[in-house]
Amino acid sequence: MTGGRAGVSRFARSVLAGLSLWLFAQPALATQQDTLARGQRIFILANCFSCHTDSENDGQPLAGGRELKTPFGVFVTPNITPDPSSGIGDWTEQQFLLALGEGLSPTGEHYFPSFPYTAYQSMTRRDMRDLYAYLMSRQPVVQDNPPHRLQWFVSRYLLGGWKAVNRWLNPRLTAEQQADRGYYLRAALGHCQECHTPRNMLGMLDRERDLQGNEMLEAPDLTPRNQQGIADWSDDELEEFLRDGLYPDGDYVGGHMADVVEHSTQHWSEQDMAALIASLRAIP
Ligand code: HEC
Ligand code: HEC
Repeated sequence: MTGGRAGVSRFARSVLAGLSLWLFAQPALATQQDTLARGQRIFILANCFSCHTDSENDGQPLAGGRELKTPFGVFVTPNITPDPSSGIGDWTEQQFLLALGEGLSPTGEHYFPSFPYTAYQSMTRRDMRDLYAYLMSRQPVVQDNPPHRLQWFVSRYLLGGWKAVNRWLNPRLTAEQQADRGYYLRAALGHCQECHTPRNMLGMLDRERDLQGNEMLEAPDLTPRNQQGIADWSDDELEEFLRDGLYPDGDYVGGHMADVVEHSTQHWSEQDMAALIASLRAIP
């Protein structure tokens, strides 16, 4: 009898203990889910998917292997799934922040700016950290990284100097610029200038001509200087283009912009889309 009562109260105690543990765990779980949901939004706004997935050859998401053809040679994007051997699964958050914020690998090597850390370096710390958490929650894929095939004159050892000059010509966004949502979206996350701004001989963005088009990439001038361009479109037409890839004349978007629409801008929230459009319209 007594044994039975003790048993019941032991049972009650463990239920109580379990319940309180569960209650304590709830806020932690909720924050973890918030972080992942925020991280996913950053991931989409920054379009990490396009370059790091070899969609043309049915590659696994984020396992890399996509070839980027440039005048400096062919870059093959690396695996950024959380596989610890071939991907970035054994990276600490600090190492990830260093890659995005400084263009430095965990062993201290400089990354080529074909990885647009030149834009991502202006992301807020919080956005970088949530993005890290999201990436680490993805499916790991075992897939080794093939080497880049670069022109003889292109070397990682020259990148330190390149980065120093570039940082001077194209400094990080200020806190004030980061707080301007539309500007932050197009300059840091959406990195529109990486394709739409002309570059100098060293491949650095010409900030004086921001978004005035890059002929080599066939990316049009997005400023009011281009009267045949978006200056002539209504805001609804611009949104239709960024959501459905449809030009006002009925044509469909092609080239690299098709990737941007498919994997990024079509999924942007109403507020972010409105902020982006307002920011493009504010260009004098
Ligand atoms: C325009 C194409 C492009 C986009 C967009 C892009 N990357 Fe990359 N990324 C690259 C290339 C190319 C490299 C290899 C650079 C090198 O070897 O120096 C790279 C390298 C990396 C590395 C280093 C991996 C390693 O094994 O050392 C990480 C991490 C990374 N990218 C994460 C991201 C994240 C996160 C995003 C989105 C915020 C992103 N990338 C968007 C092209 C891209
Ligand atoms: C990877 C390169 C790349 C990136 C990044 C990129 N674009 Fe583009 N964009 C292009 C190319 C190439 C075209 C021409 C598409 C075509 O030929 O149909 C284009 C076309 C456009 C057009 C149509 C303009 C016109 O006059 O016809 C708009 C609007 C546009 N992009 C906006 C953006 C915005 C906003 C961003 C950032 C969120 C962005 N693009 C990021 C390459 C890019």
